[in-house]
Amino acid sequence: MPSLNLGSSDKGVFTVDADVVVTGRTCVIGTSGSGKSYAVGVFCEELCKAQIPFALLDVEGEYSGLKERYEVIWIGEDVDCDLKWAELNVKELARSAPDITPLILDVSETIDPEVKVDQFLKQIYSEVSSRRVPYLIIIEEADKFAPQVGKRLQIIEEIARRGRKRGLGIMLCTQRPSLVDKNILSQCSNQLIGKLVIKNDLEAVTQFFPGKGLPKHLTSLSPGSFYALGGLSPVPLPVKIRPRETTHGGITPLLANRAVKPSLELSRFRTLKPKELILGVPYRFDHKEVSARIKKDRRYLFFGEEEVIENVQLVYHPLIELRIRVQSGFLRKRFLDKFLTIDGRTGAIVKFENRVVFKETLTPLLGLEAHDIELLKALDSDKEVAVKDINMAPSFPEDLIKRSLRSLEKKGFVKMSKYGKVKKVRRTIDLPKIQLNEEGLRLERINLDGARKGKVKVKLSGVKDVMETLLPGSELIGSTCFYYPFYIIKLGLGKKYRFVKVDGLSGEMVDF
Ligand SMILES: Nc1ncnc2c1ncn2[C@@H]1O[C@H](COP(=O)(O)OP(=O)(O)O)[C@@H](O)[C@H]1O
Ligand SMILES: [Mg+2]
Repeated sequence: MPSLNLGSSDKGVFTVDADVVVTGRTCVIGTSGSGKSYAVGVFCEELCKAQIPFALLDVEGEYSGLKERYEVIWIGEDVDCDLKWAELNVKELARSAPDITPLILDVSETIDPEVKVDQFLKQIYSEVSSRRVPYLIIIEEADKFAPQVGKRLQIIEEIARRGRKRGLGIMLCTQRPSLVDKNILSQCSNQLIGKLVIKNDLEAVTQFFPGKGLPKHLTSLSPGSFYALGGLSPVPLPVKIRPRETTHGGITPLLANRAVKPSLELSRFRTLKPKELILGVPYRFDHKEVSARIKKDRRYLFFGEEEVIENVQLVYHPLIELRIRVQSGFLRKRFLDKFLTIDGRTGAIVKFENRVVFKETLTPLLGLEAHDIELLKALDSDKEVAVKDINMAPSFPEDLIKRSLRSLEKKGFVKMSKYGKVKKVRRTIDLPKIQLNEEGLRLERINLDGARKGKVKVKLSGVKDVMETLLPGSELIGSTCFYYPFYIIKLGLGKKYRFVKVDGLSGEMVDF
């Protein structure tokens, strides 16, 4: 088998025999932010190059970037996915897995990940066992799926114990080695160990360091730096994982257009569903209740008593929940995932205050380059500043300011004035104030049942630039499109008519 180029060490290039990994048992350990997922991404790139089949359990939705260069099948809930969990025959997929391109099993937005994963693992285990073909399973957050205490997927232990002989390898990632089932962890004969700080976790990995105990730097390793041990290196070897070739962190703008589509016929794995299921919010008011409410509530009587309801149509409107990773912590950097919902058609920020409220829109900013937005941030909307006094970082040279101002002026986002020789500028648009939500929405799979479904128009590539510039230090790492119920009601009197829109959850009228 070929060797995988993972990065470098003092000794030069750091490569590993594909065999060792593919049918072996490997753990990737390190605190959050130590670069585990990044390293796993590098493994995946190398495996793709070597045409070695694998399935990656993606719990954060951060691996779809692989599609920029490689043929992989992305299974998840996202609009851009190749296959949706809901319409998938998991067993059939697992049966074919060794013969097809690698799989990203994205369960980041899946309601019952354990069930899906359990099904997949059991089937692939039996498949590989009977056919004796090499296959690698990669599991992120092993402490969740195979904890020392609590509910676990038994099949993981089975694979760790007996997979190797059958050709089925496993790679487990965890930030909390002390919480992973000890039997499983001790089965891992290949180790990549990065920064750890918690005492129990340090203790849990001592078993891997022969002789003198833990290296001192283990608590202060930088992201991407690991010790390679066991089957990966005969002596503990400090290594630096190489840069990714594809985007790390999931969202890849307009992936659908750039992605290499898997050549196989995906429809093979689709089960036919009599009715389409979509990720969304179920309505609480049905047609009848909405009509009754409209009739009762005098506010809606626009044409007087005799206005009649001519038509009530349920429409599912696309909203996009963004997952944004922000840095927090002053001394020790931590990453927190927060959320923001935007309108999938206009880019307006959406808040849920009993009913849906559409707030400021990101739309005007969506076409702008990051430096244009930076510049807008530096300007005031109620005060003119002299162009020469605009305070920008040294990386933002004067000619870029000038160029950027010209393009912003053309778009009408700034107003320039001249006072003698002094040029002044004022911002004419408001920049949205973004307040992120601490928690994501609880979405369900709902039945479309013949209702209409709106189309997403917002380009996520633009949203990524805008968000990351408006919120410095943040990273847009994922997005989920889902559908929100509204009723469009046609009210008429004679030849006159008008439309009102009612929130299908609260029954309240909304502006649109
Ligand atoms: N080998 C690397 N080279 C460059 N940057 C890296 C490397 N490893 C990690 N990083 C940076 O650190 C961040 C966190 O890494 P990640 O792999 O997501 O951490 P975790 O260990 O929590 O999975 C990445 O978004 C990336 O910016
Ligand atoms: Mg990670």
